[in-house]
Parts: sequence; C-alpha cells; structure tokens
Amino acid sequence: MIEESFIPKKYSNSVENGSFTWSSPSNIALVKYWGKKEHQIPENPSISFTLNNCKTITTVGFSKKENHDSYSFEVFLDDEKKDDFKPKIETFFKRVEVYLPFLKAYHFKIETSNTFPHSSGIASSASGMSALALCLMSIEKLIIESDEAMSAEESALSNEHFIQKASFLARLGSGSACRSLEGDLVVWGKHEAISGSSDLFGVKYPNEVHSHFKNYQDTILLVDKGEKQVSSTVGHNLMHGHPFAQQRFKQANTNLTNMVTILKDGDLDAFIALVESEALTLHAMMMTSMPYFILMKPNTLEIINKIWSYRKRIGSKVSFTLDAGANVHVLYPESEATSVLEFIQNELVAYCQNGQYICDVIGLGASKL
Ligand code: DP6
Repeated sequence: MIEESFIPKKYSNSVENGSFTWSSPSNIALVKYWGKKEHQIPENPSISFTLNNCKTITTVGFSKKENHDSYSFEVFLDDEKKDDFKPKIETFFKRVEVYLPFLKAYHFKIETSNTFPHSSGIASSASGMSALALCLMSIEKLIIESDEAMSAEESALSNEHFIQKASFLARLGSGSACRSLEGDLVVWGKHEAISGSSDLFGVKYPNEVHSHFKNYQDTILLVDKGEKQVSSTVGHNLMHGHPFAQQRFKQANTNLTNMVTILKDGDLDAFIALVESEALTLHAMMMTSMPYFILMKPNTLEIINKIWSYRKRIGSKVSFTLDAGANVHVLYPESEATSVLEFIQNELVAYCQNGQYICDVIGLGASKL
C-alpha cells in the first residue's frame, strides 16, 4: 500500500551533515493489537497508555555520501556496536524509503540506549522504532527547510503532519510503536467512536477522560527476563486462519466502544474487567492457535491470584495486564500509589526474577532532546 499523502515533494539533499536526538517511551495496550494484515495494517483497533519512565533515547547522526546505491548505517546500543540490529533496520529502511527519499543519500550513525534494563523482557521495539522514526523525520524537516527551491509554504511542515508521519513510519517498523509518540492515551486503528482514528497511524485519544485516569500507575513486574519465546511476527501470524480470529477482532472493536464510556465515566470496576479480560484473551489466542504457546509462567499466575485476593480484601482498584510474555503490568489509580506499592513490595516482588520491578506512570509521549 502506498500512502500518497506521506510522500514528500521532490527535494534536493542540500544538507551535508547533522544529528538529532529523540527520547520516546514504551506503551502498554489496554485493548490489544494482535493480528495484522499486509503492510502493518492492524486487524482491530487498539488503545494504550503511553508510559513515562521506560524510554529509548536515540541519536541519529547523518553525513552525505557519494554512492546512492544502497543504505549505509551503523548501530550502537549503549556505545557497543550491534550488527545484529541491522537486518531489522534495513527492512524498516526498505519499507519507508518511498516516504523518506533521502535514505540512500546519507550514511547514518544510530546510537541508542534504553532507560530500562536490556533484555528485561520489556518490548523495546515500540520505544526504539518510534525514536528512530522521529529522528528520521527531523532530518527530513531540516532537508525540506533548507531547500531553497521550495516555497515557504511548501517547506512548512506542520506539527500535526510531522507527528502523524512519524507515527506512520514508526508503524512500519513495529505496529505498537505508532502509539508511543503522544500521550497519555493513544488509539491506533479505525474506530467509529474515535474521530480521526486511522489504521495508518496512532492518534491522541480525543474524547473526555475522567480524572480517575490521570497519572495512572503502571508497575512492571519482571517475571521472566529471557528472550521472547514468540516473536511478534510469529505471534501476529498465528491469527491467520485462527479458529477464533473473527470473533476476537469483533470483540476488540466492542471493547474499544465500551472503553470510551468507561474512560468518560471513570468506572474503575468496568475498567478492571475490560483490561484483565483483554490480557487473558490475548494469551488465550496464543494457547488456542496452531502451533500453540503458553507465555505465562507459574509466577505470572501467582501474581494474578495475589492481585485478585488483595482487591477483594481491601476493595482496591488495582488490576493487571500482560504483553505477549510472562511479565505483569500492575495498573492502579494515583490515589492508591502508596498502598499498592507497599502491597507489591510485601507480596509480589518475591515472584519477580531477582526481585526486579519498574515503577512507571502514564506519560505524555516523545520529546526532542
Ligand atoms: C501484544 O507491535 O510488537 O504488545 O507490528 O509485529 O512489531 P509488530 O508487533 P508489536 O505487537 C505488539 C503486540 C502486543 C499488544 C499491543 O501492544 O497492542
């Protein structure tokens, strides 16, 4: 699929070199994206909280090169050369080249680091791909603004277009990455109740949100820090021909419709039920696909049961969600920040690998450094 509106007017690459740095956060889906069509188009719309502390910081340095036949770039993670990251970035470059025609004209040095522990099992693709897309957008903006042949009108990239195209590009790197640019809630995927929503990029949630959801807390319990058992590509493919696929995509649409009311009314009990059901449904999809997977670990279940009994005992509004792995995201309102953290430390940390957990809160998205 070629999306004409994101193909820039022909420009001359008059900028010799430069560098840009962006910081971009991870996000946690409340209604999950699981299953995609060709060209990174989601089978159903999703909504996520943008995180604040789990971030990737990426600097892209660029310098003009003679030969325009192929891509030229090097990648560093925490100052260490990472050639094993190159194939993913090369695939990304190929997908986005039609939208960023300068990619073969420069050599790029991509330097990246994460605020969360490497191999913590936390997906760095959302924060990583969104940070990279934003750096590339900053380069394009500079090239366009420096092109004397362009009129002022042609070279003025509106902020809205900048963010939208960055999200569009990030999606082509990793679907969930398109939800990391803004905050504190982002929708990706066309849905009738959310104006401006699109399959092509994430949009800031435009509807009313009750104060209960302001500064919502997310403490991530690191149950299993190992390599992902199922890569996202393999995972999404499991939904092709899955016996429950169509029902699941319909359910996600309905859940998003219901989420609109929940967010407006501040109905925390309904929020808990919807978010936990989404998490378990995601895992149920994996357990009922062919081949099948169980991505939860015994400690994941221990934690879930502890959360349920604490909620019953205290009347707390704490809940959990899961990614495609064993780690647990513990979600709770700011009003319970102290009590739930105490509960986590007293009762849940024992189930974390090396006692590790990360305290986060919902945030406002990416920023240029
Ligand atoms: C379970 O965005 O990692 O976290 O598009 O193949 O890169 P690709 O997949 P990815 O899938 C994330 C799936 C999920 C749910 C979600 O974040 O919505």
